[in-house]
Amino acid sequence: MQLSTKHLLGIKDLTPTDISLILSTATQFKEVLQRSVKKVPSLRDVTIVNLFYENSTRTRISFELAEKRLGADTINFSASASSITKGETLLDTVNNILSMKVDMVVLRHSASGAPHFLAKHIPAAIINAGDGINEHPTQALLDALSIQEKLGSLEGKKILLIGDIMHSRVALSNIYLLNKMGAEVMVSGPPTLIPKYIKEALHVQVEYNIKKALQWCDVANILRIQLERQNQVLFSSLREYNLAYGISKKLLDGLNKEIVIMHPGPINRGVEIDSDVADSHQSIILQQVENGVAVRMAALYLLAGNKPIT
Ligand code: NCD
Repeated sequence: MQLSTKHLLGIKDLTPTDISLILSTATQFKEVLQRSVKKVPSLRDVTIVNLFYENSTRTRISFELAEKRLGADTINFSASASSITKGETLLDTVNNILSMKVDMVVLRHSASGAPHFLAKHIPAAIINAGDGINEHPTQALLDALSIQEKLGSLEGKKILLIGDIMHSRVALSNIYLLNKMGAEVMVSGPPTLIPKYIKEALHVQVEYNIKKALQWCDVANILRIQLERQNQVLFSSLREYNLAYGISKKLLDGLNKEIVIMHPGPINRGVEIDSDVADSHQSIILQQVENGVAVRMAALYLLAGNKPIT
């Protein structure tokens, strides 16, 4: 089976069949990752460049590991150590790299739409590793795999996204994916951090009361406040955010059920999530990170055009 797209720019462009294919392929790769030799030669002839114009820990390491475990040749590029500080454009940088015979580009960029722009101008397959406040498709896919593993399926499950919905590419990609796969989605957080017409535009429920929202859901995906993307004051202080929307053990203990706790990382302990919640048995934060490698292997493998997984 093949994906319906040549690039992975966003969940918006994927069909439910594409999403299921990536998730089932990721499950096969999880099996490879349990072996003592955690490697297959599927991408042995493929060269991939990881272009990171924005900081990253998990996503970058996860892509690099995924590429290595598929036997690809990889090159890493950080904006701060590159010629962009000498005035080179994104397109010139990428064209120079491609002239060295690179097949795929993994791009993280602070400008929304940067990977879409590149996809129009260069022949290589592009994977979006997070573009500004737009999408972060591999994060939504690894979140979906983690929910599926924990709850059996996505269909009919109630997923709550909490926090800075306005500036979160993780939120947008999750909303697209969960809606396409038949889950129910609710968002909660301060009204100033939730886009005004999100209910109509993206078909999600909005609940500003955090207790009611938590009581509704099966899974709560807690998001970081994206201070680096906010150019005006949208809430009074991180301490007040924690008092109003921070997820504490007390809040969770007050529910009449046990919900699953997720977070894409990096977590800010004591702001959006308290330590005893992040480290609790309800939390699957580290399973999400583990699943990231298999999901990225699946995406790279399917975009490179499918040889048997051996
Ligand atoms: C997220 C990102 O960069 O969008 N992190 C990640 O990729 N795991 C979320 C965030 O920065 O808060």
